[in-house]
Amino acid sequence: MCLIVFSCWRCASAGAQSLQRPAVKSVFDKWCEPCHGRVAGGVFGGFGAHALPGTSALMIKYKGDLPPVLEDRVDLQPIYISTVVRNGLYGMPITRKTEVSEADLENVIAYLTRPR
Ligand code: HEC
Repeated sequence: MCLIVFSCWRCASAGAQSLQRPAVKSVFDKWCEPCHGRVAGGVFGGFGAHALPGTSALMIKYKGDLPPVLEDRVDLQPIYISTVVRNGLYGMPITRKTEVSEADLENVIAYLTRPR
């Protein structure tokens, strides 16, 4: 019984925290931007010498139907972001909790799903 009450309390407080967590860009800039960023002077994130793996791959994947720069997307769901980050996806590496903690991942998710 105690456990049930405790886990519900945890759920409620986790929910409240993620609602209040400000969408800070710094974790995204450190861990995601190097592959998913925008390249100044490049077309659609840049090809050739300026190619960024994430931006280039998403440009090819969606052929312009969706923005290739991850932070321009407004369709990303939290569960999709966390699944891709933790499990990887083709050229996207698995990111461990020792690299990006759960709190940092929540931060990235808050940034990528920020209201616009
Ligand atoms: C080493 C380069 C690299 C890093 C670092 C990286 N990604 Fe990726 N990411 C990729 C590549 C490449 C793809 C394209 C996978 C594919 O072909 O479907 C991708 C795809 C994704 C997708 C799927 C988009 C879609 O529409 O299918 C998400 C979400 C994503 N990355 C989030 C992140 C987040 C969040 C971070 C930072 C924690 C991050 N990535 C860091 C390379 C990277």
